[in-house]
Amino acid sequence: MAGALLGNLRGAFIVAPWVGYLALADVALSLLLPVKLIAPNLVYNISSGIASSVWKWVQVIFERVNGANITISGDKLPKGESAIVIANHVTWADFYMIQALAVRAGMLGRCRWFAKIQLRVVPFLGWGLWAMGMPMVSRNWMRDQRELDRVFSGIVGRKWPTWLISFSEATRFTPQKYEETKVWCTQNDRPVPKHLLYPRTKGFITTVQHLRKAPHVKAVYDLTIAYQHGDEFHEAPNMWETLKLSDISSQHGYKFHVHARRFPLEELPHTDEELAKWLECRWVEKGEWLDRKKKEWSAC
Ligand SMILES: *[C@@H]1O[C@H](CO)[C@@H](O)[C@H](O)[C@H]1NC(C)=O
Ligand SMILES: *[C@@H]1O[C@H](CO)[C@@H](O)[C@H](O)[C@H]1NC(C)=O
Repeated sequence: MAGALLGNLRGAFIVAPWVGYLALADVALSLLLPVKLIAPNLVYNISSGIASSVWKWVQVIFERVNGANITISGDKLPKGESAIVIANHVTWADFYMIQALAVRAGMLGRCRWFAKIQLRVVPFLGWGLWAMGMPMVSRNWMRDQRELDRVFSGIVGRKWPTWLISFSEATRFTPQKYEETKVWCTQNDRPVPKHLLYPRTKGFITTVQHLRKAPHVKAVYDLTIAYQHGDEFHEAPNMWETLKLSDISSQHGYKFHVHARRFPLEELPHTDEELAKWLECRWVEKGEWLDRKKKEWSAC
């Protein structure tokens, strides 16, 4: 009891200054909104700087203060390169895995995530996400299409440097969802990826077809995220635990890994059907990779 209380207090103590800072960032971002009309590029740059400081702070809490050891493998991602980023979705902590790579590539402030529209009601955060220009999607295709047009026009028309990040499975991996994936894949004659849900192809195809018109967007990064806790694969700390637990890796025994692959955009196929197939291949390979990682972790 006392231990749990201390843990929560520790979490509150660590997080409170960041929430205060987020509130200030919200004010700054709001003041910039009217300036956007006359100096959109400048506002994008300043907003990116503010976003970078907000996210860097959370990253420092997770990695340095709370000792999460994120290991990285695969292709080295070039500094400052704009890209379409896709990843598997396990849990909230995925956010830190992707940011760990963005920090190294100097793109943290340029990350634009497809966020659920529901997040808009989260105090401070929702407003901040909106004011930073994060694409907010609802699964209502008409509404989403307007939002996508807005995001694509910034990247294509104004050449804004961006990592445009989406979780292709659209929802988190759960054993129950996995059963649904298996049924769906069997019915539709598709391969069942291991440890993953079958990816949604529509958003990916739309994104690639639009952003290949932007010469500065050079690649698709395919990220594979894996966790381990004790003997349990794909088990990660929840949101509050990532903020309150100390020595997450050394004491609590959590492992965090992200594997990156870089595909030049010009090498991707051109038709929608081929792009859907391309994404499916990535997911099958990703499943094989996760399976090897699971065996590797369970052996040690
Ligand atoms: C915004 O940042 C980019 C990249 O760092 C730079 O090339 C551009 O000149 C900046 N634009 C403005 C208006 O500050
Ligand atoms: C992080 O984990 C890797 C792989 O298990 C290990 O080699 C490395 O020493 C760890 N780093 C820290 C800071 O504990």
